[in-house]
Amino acid sequence: MISEQNKRSPQQVKPAEGYKIAVIPGDGTGPEVIQEAVKVLEAAAKKFDFKYETKTFDYGAERYLKTQKTLEDNDIKELKTFSAILLGAIGHPDVKPGILETGILLKLRFSLDQYINLRPVRLYSALFCPLKNKKPEDIDFVVVRENSEGLYKGMGEFKDKSTKDEVAIQVSYNTRRGVERCIRYAFEYCKKRNKKRKLTLCGKTNVLTYAWDLWERTFYEVAKDYPDIATDYAHVDATTMWFVKNPEWFDVIVTDNMFGDIITDLGAMIQGGMGIAAGGNINPEGVSMFEPIGGSAPKYTGKNVINPLAAICAVGMMLENLGELKAAKTVEEAVIKVAQKKLKSLAAGKMGYSTFEVGDLVVKNL
Ligand code: IPM
Ligand code: MN
Repeated sequence: MISEQNKRSPQQVKPAEGYKIAVIPGDGTGPEVIQEAVKVLEAAAKKFDFKYETKTFDYGAERYLKTQKTLEDNDIKELKTFSAILLGAIGHPDVKPGILETGILLKLRFSLDQYINLRPVRLYSALFCPLKNKKPEDIDFVVVRENSEGLYKGMGEFKDKSTKDEVAIQVSYNTRRGVERCIRYAFEYCKKRNKKRKLTLCGKTNVLTYAWDLWERTFYEVAKDYPDIATDYAHVDATTMWFVKNPEWFDVIVTDNMFGDIITDLGAMIQGGMGIAAGGNINPEGVSMFEPIGGSAPKYTGKNVINPLAAICAVGMMLENLGELKAAKTVEEAVIKVAQKKLKSLAAGKMGYSTFEVGDLVVKNL
């Protein structure tokens, strides 16, 4: 997944004293997978001769339960001084759903203006694919999910709440500027990726006739600047069908926040599961944040059985974003080797190795 897409932003000019990495292990199995991810980062730094320092932040359920704090403006201010952020997972069974997700994860994405959620979907070994007869070369695409608007904007209202006439309105908010910067990023990414050179817009023009009219118009206008990139359109429902039936059709997909959320969970499953799926919350001009896309997996917490490869892949994406392209490529290749040659499964508890051992295996294969 190496491209020149991610030019170094001001924060990312290789600092003499090294990169400053903010580490947010978070909840559940987050700390366990982040420990392995940082282990790989350390080994990569030695091998590729770059310097870095980490600072760990305790944002998450434990801190919230003690202090009622999610993320303060000062926290954001501090995070803005880092080269990149590495995040484990956010979410805890003792905290009502929504509080930590909006108060921490979405707040980070929004206040750091990480307007792209980049989610590669790549099958590393046919063994782990739930689809019949699909090989690694058949499943290799990237979803560019808009990460700052749409239904995630949190706009809406209740009318006559808790009466029989109640109405709940949830608005999808799409700005020309927001849509265009996302679509442009996707075209650029597709060009730099230089594989099938095809960008698919995934939407719902047949029903959501305001939002997707804007998206479609913008898509074909921006496409004029990229005559060498083939364009395609698929409704979101059909997209899920093609993911299962013909994933080899896709190269880069661009879509809105909500659809991107949904289709990338399916994407994770066809690439072998949440154990391997990583994503980057990208602000091309600012501080980006990298994370395994699976949740905090409370049921596996503290058992040393969760798969750290997704978090390690997140480190790979982070290194690419920082401009450490050789290190990034080597981390991804080491993950591929370990997945292909060592692991019995990518699922928690079934790998044939512990979380810790998988981290060691990746380091050995660097
Ligand atoms: C994801 C997650 C988040 C999202 C949740 C935890 C808020 O599902 O990163 O895909 O919906 O974006
Ligand atoms: Mn999701």
